[in-house]
Amino acid sequence: MDRDVARILFDAEAIGARVHALAGRITEIYRDRDLTLVAILKGSIVFAADLIRLIPLRLRLGFVAASSYRGARTTPGPLRIELPDDEPLEGRNVLVVDEILDTGRTLAAVVDAVRARGARDVATCVLVDKRARRAVAIEADHVGFEIDDAFVVGYGLDHDGQYRNLPYIGVLGAESLPARGPDPA
Ligand code: IMP
Ligand code: MG
Repeated sequence: MDRDVARILFDAEAIGARVHALAGRITEIYRDRDLTLVAILKGSIVFAADLIRLIPLRLRLGFVAASSYRGARTTPGPLRIELPDDEPLEGRNVLVVDEILDTGRTLAAVVDAVRARGARDVATCVLVDKRARRAVAIEADHVGFEIDDAFVVGYGLDHDGQYRNLPYIGVLGAESLPARGPDPA
């Protein structure tokens, strides 16, 4: 698996330092308020798992499934958002967490859905931001790393369902590069 990676962008130590910094900021912001994290499946689970353990507040955690019907990467279909039924969001301060912000469609749709559930405040946190690829006007409130347009794997990020378990974030070699769009979940 490691051999498929051509270049490491952020090793485990660099990721750890950034997650630590993000958690510190989030802790300060929500110190005297309620906090419900909503993590977007599946890619954000590694990031969310590390992040919550560095936030020493009484927080809640929910998951949201976002799936698109995009067959080819040029024609993304409508997104289907499945919010958690077990976590009430009405009147809550919600922090939506995703591992990567690409075109922005997923995050924008999840934010809309959380607002429609009656959340009081909705903020966003992503580990990686690919600003150059944005198709929807959305910026995350908390960003770990900014990268240029590259397809990255590891630390939750997949190609065709694989590589999520790599402890670092890297770029695949040409022979392992995606032939089609990324798994939207
Ligand atoms: P967006 O709706 O285009 O912003 O897409 C966000 C989703 O696409 C992310 O949650 C990832 O699942 C996936 N994605 C986007 N870029 C990458 C990448 O470089 N590697 C792996 N997955 C990606
Ligand atoms: Mg994702």
